[in-house]
Amino acid sequence: MSKISLAKPYFDHEELEEIRTVLDSGWVSQGPKVKEFEEKIASYLGVKYAIAVTNCTAALHLALLSIGIKKGDEVLVADFTFPATGHSVLYCGARPVFVDVKLDTYNIDTELIEEKITNRTKAIIPVHAFGQPADMDEIIKISKDHNLKVIEDAACALGAKYNDKNAGTIGDIGCFSFHARKGITTGEGGMAVTNDKNLAEKMRHLSVFGMTSAWVREKSDEFVVPRFTEAGYNYKMSDITAAVGVAQMRKLDKIIERKKELAKYWNEKLNEIEYIESPYVDNNVKHVYQSYVSLVDKGINRNKIIESLMKKDVQTQIGTYASHIQPVYNSPDKCSNSFEIFERSLALPMYFMLREEDIDMVAKHLKTALEQLK
Ligand SMILES: Cc1ncc(COP(=O)(O)O)c(C=O)c1O
Repeated sequence: MSKISLAKPYFDHEELEEIRTVLDSGWVSQGPKVKEFEEKIASYLGVKYAIAVTNCTAALHLALLSIGIKKGDEVLVADFTFPATGHSVLYCGARPVFVDVKLDTYNIDTELIEEKITNRTKAIIPVHAFGQPADMDEIIKISKDHNLKVIEDAACALGAKYNDKNAGTIGDIGCFSFHARKGITTGEGGMAVTNDKNLAEKMRHLSVFGMTSAWVREKSDEFVVPRFTEAGYNYKMSDITAAVGVAQMRKLDKIIERKKELAKYWNEKLNEIEYIESPYVDNNVKHVYQSYVSLVDKGINRNKIIESLMKKDVQTQIGTYASHIQPVYNSPDKCSNSFEIFERSLALPMYFMLREEDIDMVAKHLKTALEQLK
């Protein structure tokens, strides 16, 4: 019996050819391939600026710095997320204030946002959980009423839509991840996108040590010695990484379409199984299923299900984390839905090459495990 993984990247000869071109060119650190990748992302999303960085955590950090987040500020963060979101706030010396999520979509509960706003609150970070956009109309309305910036954590949501808008392009800045488990991957990688020239320039500047970037210097006929005006970071993506990204972008829509078919198939299977719910999808969004995250019934030990499937060579995982309970944040926030999803969520195998017969096999083992553990 072959092992079924939770996720698997989809590569072919195109990635190798793109990497070969970069290696042959001799320019392997940040250069023309990064620019090409940024242009591809910007044009796909219909945004003016895209800044490629080392990962989405770096993109979130730069996004927060560019809007001026500093010590003493508070930033509202959707609680149910990978802790990179909260960490990026800590990097700025600010405090993440966690807002609970909805049990159905796993996304920030917009009805709970206003009660968390204080005179120190400067921004909101909604997270598009597993590729399903958060309720952006309401978030934008609240942000306007309270003069807050909105940074979308779109790590999992490249290609997702909220009504007819691309996830990541609705707030002030959107941050994407190209980690191995994301829709498309470069191994590690990230991108910040915005339509605001000032924010874009600030993020670019901070991503390259706070110095004038190589491209800006290249546009000049003069020999320009760079100057360092801020203690920026080395968050540059390399051209080798971008080469993989350029090839992956050609596959993005195909991957999303196939995952939507597989999610439909998973939904049908889970409907036939007791003690587990398929993921709920709002009707005004396009969900891209970075992960397919179900909920086991209350009282069922989700970790035991993961162990039981592992014994059948099937890899599954928790959904993601309840941030407020992580010791690093020492948070007074209470987010009971997030905690419940943290305990009940089960991510099932979902990737482009997964076959319907794989799902049949996993569903059979899952049914047995649930019946034994109910
Ligand atoms: C919601 C969310 N935000 C941020 C990140 C961080 O992304 P990266 O690993 O590219 O830094 C992740 C990655 O798992 C994520 O799922």
